[in-house]
Amino acid sequence: MKLEITPSGQACGAAVRGADLSKPMTKDTIAAVRAAWLEHQVLAFPDQKLTDEQLEAYTLSFGPFGEDPFIAPIPGHPHIIAVKRMADETSPVFAESWHSDWSFQAKPPQGTCLYGKTIPPVGGDTLFTNQYLALERMPGDLRKRIEGKRAVHSARNAYAPTGFYGAGDRGRSMDIRPSDDAQAVQTHPVIHTHPETGRECLFGTAGYIIGIEGMEPAEGWDLVSEIYRWQTRPEFQYRHKWSPDMLVMWDNRCTLHMATGGYAGHDRLLHRTTIGAA
Ligand code: SIN
Repeated sequence: MKLEITPSGQACGAAVRGADLSKPMTKDTIAAVRAAWLEHQVLAFPDQKLTDEQLEAYTLSFGPFGEDPFIAPIPGHPHIIAVKRMADETSPVFAESWHSDWSFQAKPPQGTCLYGKTIPPVGGDTLFTNQYLALERMPGDLRKRIEGKRAVHSARNAYAPTGFYGAGDRGRSMDIRPSDDAQAVQTHPVIHTHPETGRECLFGTAGYIIGIEGMEPAEGWDLVSEIYRWQTRPEFQYRHKWSPDMLVMWDNRCTLHMATGGYAGHDRLLHRTTIGAA
């Protein structure tokens, strides 16, 4: 099976045609998808009719399931969460801030698969940023100041009871389960080497990153903010437009992503799995 790969023309991302993801894939096809994924970081497969079981099987072609803390799975599928927003919902859009999924874990997931089920006619794009490019183009002075540093990651600002999705978050249709477990911290290098491509890139961003190991909080936060302003610049971004029955998979090890709104009055529903660390 020959894959037809069309780069987005933006900082990352490509559309892939020529594969039927509802069927088990051969080793060669999995290897070809993986190679395209490593090259483009975000792959979009339009026009794929997938059941939840097929989404699970596709995910497992690339690694074990990741662990999804703080969001309850859909019934009968412990590794699928529903990214959902109803037409009349007024709570802030879920995940509308830059992040790398679950970067606060000791072994963060390789990637995420998101399958579009109900896609609004306007808005709801997902933005990605290429963190190889952000590092490659980083001014030397900033790079020098982050070399060898480790960032402190935590889910506390989002998923602790006092966090953004905590007790004060009302009227949300997503089944988010805040917990004191979100207080835990974990460190990862600010510049890391992608385990498969061997290329260096930035890992994670402000939000799940709450400080820099060994720096005073205020000084560390200033540095985290400066990195954030650089790594999310428009020239490193790809804006992904959804259609129903589209599967998107992204590499959390070298990208950041965020949801966007702009579809008030319309439902939006996607099913999400994570590809755990190898
Ligand atoms: C996510 O971060 O998983 C959600 C992205 C989106 O809803 O576009």
